[in-house]
Amino acid sequence: MPDPTWFEEEEFGDVLDGRTLRRILGLVRPHWRHVAGFILAITIISILESWFTFQGKRIVDEVIVPQDTSALREILITYLIIVFGFALGVFTFIYLTGLLGQRIQYELRQRLFHHLQTLSLAYFDRTPVGWIMSRLTSDTERIAELVTWGLLDTTWAVTNMLAAASFMMIINWRLALVVLAVMPVLIAVALWFRQKIVLQFRLSRRINSIITGALNENITGVRVVKALTRERANLREFRVHTDDMYRASYRAHWLAALFLPLVQLISALALSLIVLRGGQLALEGALTIGSIQAFISYLIIMLWPIQDLARVFASLQQAVASAERTFSLIDTQPDLADRPGAYDPGTLKGDIEFDDVDFQYEPEKPVLQGFSLTVRQGETIAIVGPTGAGKTSIVNLVCRFYEPGGGAIRINGVDYTRFTMQAIQSRIGMVLQTPQLFSGTILENIRYGSLGASDDEVYEAGRLAGADDFVQRLEKGYESGVGEGGVLLSTGQKQLISLARAILSQPDIFIMDEATSSVDTLTEALIQQGMEALMKRSTTFVIAHRLSTIRRADRILVLQDGRIEELGTHRELLRRRGHYYRLYTRQFREQADRVWDSWNGATTGPALAE
Ligand code: UTP
Ligand code: MG
Repeated sequence: MPDPTWFEEEEFGDVLDGRTLRRILGLVRPHWRHVAGFILAITIISILESWFTFQGKRIVDEVIVPQDTSALREILITYLIIVFGFALGVFTFIYLTGLLGQRIQYELRQRLFHHLQTLSLAYFDRTPVGWIMSRLTSDTERIAELVTWGLLDTTWAVTNMLAAASFMMIINWRLALVVLAVMPVLIAVALWFRQKIVLQFRLSRRINSIITGALNENITGVRVVKALTRERANLREFRVHTDDMYRASYRAHWLAALFLPLVQLISALALSLIVLRGGQLALEGALTIGSIQAFISYLIIMLWPIQDLARVFASLQQAVASAERTFSLIDTQPDLADRPGAYDPGTLKGDIEFDDVDFQYEPEKPVLQGFSLTVRQGETIAIVGPTGAGKTSIVNLVCRFYEPGGGAIRINGVDYTRFTMQAIQSRIGMVLQTPQLFSGTILENIRYGSLGASDDEVYEAGRLAGADDFVQRLEKGYESGVGEGGVLLSTGQKQLISLARAILSQPDIFIMDEATSSVDTLTEALIQQGMEALMKRSTTFVIAHRLSTIRRADRILVLQDGRIEELGTHRELLRRRGHYYRLYTRQFREQADRVWDSWNGATTGPALAE
């Protein structure tokens, strides 16, 4: 199970620093009209609420006590106005906050997704998918909540307390001062609890992200987990994390449970002060009965936001952490970017030259060292070698998914880092070891290689790739869905679709990383045929596992530990009686075995060795 390191939630501060706040406000700024609208609505609601309570006082003092109904009509009309205004205010703020929240989420997701497209493969190698996904889903949601409901709650708390305090001052300033003196105590208690609760919630969130990561790996890797019978060990690790999670959440809820009774205790104190001091004032004739009642109501009104404070701050805190993580993603500089003055050469036709290239994924673990190779325009070069030899790394460099650490790669004599990424990648077609399709139809997946292509061109590419036969046999043909990531198709079929996609894009360079998993002989022949179409027009790198492909290549590169072991044509290498010769004769034997097996009714033989 993964142990998050640099992407740990902990790294993100628990104080709202000015920079983050400014950036959050930056998200809201374009929508200031909305914000002004709902702040106005919430202020009006707060005032109406206190005014409403004030009408209660009037009923007691002006109607019930003097047994006089003359003021009743006016009071009732005022009530109606208040209720109507209230409804209007509630509608406005719910509508505006909802709208604002969605807008901000939408804009943030667009921005993040756009930014992700610019990041290099190396970034995706070292960042768990779950981490990235949370940034785009739950974090954007939480930020939107912060700037809408967080802003709203805060405004409401302030305006509500101000309005209640003002009405109390109007009714009787001496008693008002007594009540207001208790408020700082309450607020201090609330803030203290906030600190504690937030701490616990942060802890449980941190553990939660570890659990999510573990789940993600376990679910996506379920086949391997089962194959390696890792269930028991994983279960044990999982239990440790969930236990931690339980303890942290338990403490958080214990504190939360303690908070409310404490606030109520202090409020009761304030209430008894009102009764005591209010009673005295009433006896002196300085306070009416209705006023005492109104004071009690105002106290309750002022308590709402305070009781809510802990919750609001906790969510505020989470949202700030979300914002910091999200901004950290936005701030991640692509480690491969176009150099200043990068240009589009218009074509990638020309010799491809690796000149003394050093390359490594991780420091101190060189994959290629002093690697030199020139592949001529239009040539097909087959790369063979044991697993981990660096075959995929070579083609990764050609695609500029990574750049050489030392030396240079030149295309048509020009260092390819002087070209734009777009110029290079748009002219390379590739079929990967594990072909990647996207949910959608087969037609859409092929067209992915060249968005402007007509349906007929797509069919033609499908035909050239040799995908036509199996596609036509599907119920909906080219309109059939492939499932998420292409799960509905076999590896061989996915490769055929990828091949069609590459053919459609008419690449200058074609790269094929043959699947090691066994593909049936028919599909193999089809793939072969499809490749011919590409090999004819493009400079081709093929990481070959099949003898048929290897033999068809112009030259064969035998790679071992990132070094060129042998390089030459099929004939030349056979004559050398070295690695290739041994590989060839062994494969030949295995293929003979396979044919023998199929005669005996077995469907697949042993996978071809590298
Ligand atoms: P390659 O991925 O280039 O090997 O990794 P390969 O020849 O294509 O192997 P197969 O046939 O597909 O299995 C070369 C070396 O680079 C390391 C690997 O551990 C391997 O030793 N590597 C690869 C990394 O360190 N990080 C990566 O992301 C990929
Ligand atoms: Mg590979």
